[in-house]
Amino acid sequence: MSAEERQDVLTKFHPDEKPDSRRKIHIGPNKDELLTTEVADILESHSRINPKLFDLTIPDYETDILIVGGGGAGCAAAIIARQNGSKSIISTKLRLGDANSMMSQGGMQAAVTEKDSPTRHYLDAMGGGHFDNKPDLVRAMTEDGPEVVKWLEDLGVVWDKNPDGSMYVLHGGGTSRKRMHSCRDYTGAIIMRTLMDEVRNHPEDIKILEFMPTIELIMDNKGRCAGGVLYNLETEEYFTVKAKAVIIATGGYGRLHIRGFDTTNHYGATGDGLVMAYRAGAKLLYMDSVQYHPTGAVFPEQIGGFLITEKIRGAGGQPINKFGELFVWPREPRDVESAAFIRECLERKNGIQTPSGRWGVWLDSPLIEIIQGEGYINKNFPAMYRQFIRYNIDITKEPMLVYPSLHYQNGGVEINDRCETNLKGLYVAGEASGGVHGRNRLMGNSVLDYNVFGRRAGKFAAEYVKSASLGKLTLEHIAAYENEIKRAKIKTGRIAPVLLPLYTSEEVKKRQLTAHYEGTLR
Ligand code: FUM
Repeated sequence: MSAEERQDVLTKFHPDEKPDSRRKIHIGPNKDELLTTEVADILESHSRINPKLFDLTIPDYETDILIVGGGGAGCAAAIIARQNGSKSIISTKLRLGDANSMMSQGGMQAAVTEKDSPTRHYLDAMGGGHFDNKPDLVRAMTEDGPEVVKWLEDLGVVWDKNPDGSMYVLHGGGTSRKRMHSCRDYTGAIIMRTLMDEVRNHPEDIKILEFMPTIELIMDNKGRCAGGVLYNLETEEYFTVKAKAVIIATGGYGRLHIRGFDTTNHYGATGDGLVMAYRAGAKLLYMDSVQYHPTGAVFPEQIGGFLITEKIRGAGGQPINKFGELFVWPREPRDVESAAFIRECLERKNGIQTPSGRWGVWLDSPLIEIIQGEGYINKNFPAMYRQFIRYNIDITKEPMLVYPSLHYQNGGVEINDRCETNLKGLYVAGEASGGVHGRNRLMGNSVLDYNVFGRRAGKFAAEYVKSASLGKLTLEHIAAYENEIKRAKIKTGRIAPVLLPLYTSEEVKKRQLTAHYEGTLR
């Protein structure tokens, strides 16, 4: 596609471009900016707690760094913070490792081959992000890439290799060189298990609190971030953590099902970090842009939205319409590819409809066996093969039916290349941050992002806490935000962080609301 054709399909068919997909936010640091509507909704919401009920003079826990989120960025941060002399607490909503990082399939970009360089990687990432990316962040990510490949291998990740021992690398959409490193099609699981092992190896320095999400930040009277309020999902008790620095690593928001799309995301991906940070005064960047992965499963319904890795197209799989025609270059950047799929189904009516009325296009996986040789799918996509054979669909012989699925939060809390935010003592890493990918991330750059910036957050937060001293702890920002809601005459019953998707059972939701209104305390 020419640049004009790309722009045309994006303008007409990308879900972000629909008239009601964005609205102005009326309060907070990004006041009057246009944000994704569902994001503006959760930001203009009430806190889960009544701040007056908390005595912050006797915190339940005290540590150097509170890490909010137990996915890839959180674990990488804890490992590096420890190496730099800091103790940390990881507060995680579900179990350690229940995160999008665990679910990534295709791989991690990093420029390590002779024909490649961090500079080429930089240019690809900037182009993919429509040059909206923050250059310093892209530079940090691409330059740290080769080191991260080695760091992970040293920790125990077994990368796919060629028979001569060199790295086996593939193309992703929008890449000018092959630089996608993988572990078959369960790259995320291998990396995440390795990071989790390393975290668990050091219980004396890294404390893990599972099913205990942080639901508000604590500040001090000088405006520095100083810890968090945690909520135990099992016992419904609240706990306070005093910490000299906080790293938000809560991942994305796929479970908000923006514009009603299915999602590739894990159950806990409800954008909690954004809400807490925003209420405390952190600035957000690019929260008007959502990434839809072109190939989410449409059929069978049990796996609706499930990620079908871009690597399938990297290996030769092609998107085709009901006439068997290739209607778009298979590896356009994701936003363009997704918009082209939507156009094929909605405007050109060349999609395929499921018995329940959902639309999709074919992803021709049998072609891979023809191009790459028999047995390629089973060797390189064992997880995908198993996922479909459960439903009697043999993807070496039959194509998969796919449609765009909500995949990634392109924007997030604004950071610099040390992961610092505009709030002293608050660091953000991974999908919860904004700026690295501009308004469209390329495949494999999120796995690299959470490793690079998780490590940087751990390093720079550990450096900061060495000289940081806290004043009086306070939750005054929550009352101040509540006043802003009133002044702006916002009428809402919404409570956030959302914590669990809206289709969570009524019983569980009711218990949470009761806890909110009664301000349940230990
Ligand atoms: O297609 C995929 O395997 C997804 C990778 C990514 O989002 O980076």
